Amino acid sequence: MEKININGLSLAYDRRGKGTPLVLIHGFPLDHTTWNETAVLLEDTFDLIMPDLRGFGQSTTISEAYAIDDMATDIAGLLDHLGIEKAGIVGHSMGGYVALAFARLHPTHVRGLGLVSSQVLADSPERKQGRYDMAAKVGGNGVGVVADAMAPKLSADARVQEFVRDLIMRQSPAGVMGALKAMAEREDSTSLLALLKFAIVILHGNADELIPVDRSREMKAAIVHAEFVELKGIGHMPMMEDTKRTAETLRLLK
Ligand code: MLT
Repeated sequence: MEKININGLSLAYDRRGKGTPLVLIHGFPLDHTTWNETAVLLEDTFDLIMPDLRGFGQSTTISEAYAIDDMATDIAGLLDHLGIEKAGIVGHSMGGYVALAFARLHPTHVRGLGLVSSQVLADSPERKQGRYDMAAKVGGNGVGVVADAMAPKLSADARVQEFVRDLIMRQSPAGVMGALKAMAEREDSTSLLALLKFAIVILHGNADELIPVDRSREMKAAIVHAEFVELKGIGHMPMMEDTKRTAETLRLLK
């Protein structure tokens, strides 16, 4: 992986393929490797940029609290470093929150937006409290509590579940806690939807146990020009559970 120093941390990214620049942003508490299988199907058409968000994978983090907007600013800095003026920005789940923040903060750098298993809504007060409680548990006991709570919900597919469990166990407590707090404090992006004029693709499995498919149906209802693909029987990890249809859908951002 390549690394750049930016915003007080080291940001790692994988880059492969040739063509239209497309950033693939991973979800919580994972890293860019969740995109690997889908990337194989896209690298003939796209210049794929797959960062590890701050605090995940091979990227470091900072000790101060940070926001989803800061993660979006890291990506903007990375594109700037690479000399890329405009890119398709795709985010999975928490990566979708980052992609939405990127679209709000840097609209002129967006060619198109892809939201995979994500949503525009902010946390309910209960969900927010749950994130702080989980962060405290991670501080006391490590990332195993998150792996236990999340792995079964991320996918019903045993192969994918084992992959994500191993991946979560390799993440740093500081990164996981930082992202939990950033997600808890993120803003509601509903009003942004009407402002998004570029191509938008929305992908969601209807067996998602973490973010219900209704969140994507609602986004589609609010953005007339969006392409919405609903995957039957697929959980929260379409890029691993149905790589073919995920790649086909993201190809629309060409
Ligand atoms: C994710 O998969 O990135 C997270 O589950 C999103 C969330 O907790 O809101």
